[in-house]
Amino acid sequence: MRALVLSGGAGTRLRPITHTSAKQLVPVANKPVLFYGLEAIADAGITEVGIVVGDTAPEIKEAVGDGAQFGLQVTYIPQDAPLGLAHAVLIARDFLGDDDFVMYLGDNFIVGGITSLVESFRVERPEAQILLTRVPNPTAFGVAELDSGGSVVGLEEKPRQPKSDLALVGVYLFTPAIHQAVDAIEPSWRGELEITHAIQWLIDHGHDVRSTVISGYWKDTGNVDDMLEVNRSVLETLEPRIEGSVDDSSEIIGRVVIEAGAEIVGSRIVGPAIIGADSKVVDSYVGPFTSVQHDCHLTDSEIEFSIVLHHSSIAGVRRIEASLVGHHVEVTPAPRVPKAHRLVLGDHSRIQISS
Ligand code: G1P
Repeated sequence: MRALVLSGGAGTRLRPITHTSAKQLVPVANKPVLFYGLEAIADAGITEVGIVVGDTAPEIKEAVGDGAQFGLQVTYIPQDAPLGLAHAVLIARDFLGDDDFVMYLGDNFIVGGITSLVESFRVERPEAQILLTRVPNPTAFGVAELDSGGSVVGLEEKPRQPKSDLALVGVYLFTPAIHQAVDAIEPSWRGELEITHAIQWLIDHGHDVRSTVISGYWKDTGNVDDMLEVNRSVLETLEPRIEGSVDDSSEIIGRVVIEAGAEIVGSRIVGPAIIGADSKVVDSYVGPFTSVQHDCHLTDSEIEFSIVLHHSSIAGVRRIEASLVGHHVEVTPAPRVPKAHRLVLGDHSRIQISS
């Protein structure tokens, strides 16, 4: 069995983070989301992986290399334009040969990996096995309609009026029957060859398409709350380790990772939290559920439940929370504007004034 990992895509749903870098490299607990997928593939016993790349190919290649760090053998498959997931299958035909394969969208995050799914697919070999999950915003996904027995009767791509809240998760298992389907379909209204249509073609032609509903799914849809939440849940599973330096006046509490070259001076870090390589935290407080990537500077500041990407600095700022800070960002306090409060306060008043 092989794996086809999709890491092209133009990142058209522009958001602060994917605006300037590949969406598959968005970090969760300081690790690109794509790496969790590659690890899950390796854990499932698959070694031959084709990665479909587009405009962001240099970034993806730089991060993944030949795949040896994951125990994988990676072949890069260039896709000239983002013409759809089924188009990716089409151009990967030589790489895939007549093997069964798992197609994994590099910007999807699946808690618990795919090992048991791959194992049961190897045994049962339906023509296609899809994963579904309940989402609050089905219009942003492919959506499945099931009959009362739980069989898939129809699939629609980004429907305006979704027939259910069951979204297609970006992990699909296929036998070579899918090649006939991708050859047969036409581009959709958005000009893409949709894998959803190819799977619908399999259903319409009497092939066995099965589904499993999972929980514990995340995809970067540009929603900061979701991203903080997935970061939080992954941080909770961190194995604490301290590879950088922590001075005597600092305090490290709970599940904390301090990566190599990081320096903690006069600060308090309360886990779960991770401080990336070569970052410096001085006279600051880093609270639970915070990921600070490599090469950041935190000075005289407080932050918690937040993500800070590499090469950013935060200085002299009291309590940042529930925030996502991109890379190469500078956060400093606004200069104090001289201001006065005019008060008429009755006797024995107690008031709080922000100053
Ligand atoms: C693709 C699929 C969609 C699926 C989604 C999951 O959409 O077309 O059916 O639900 O991935 O990530 P995309 O977001 O790439 O347009």
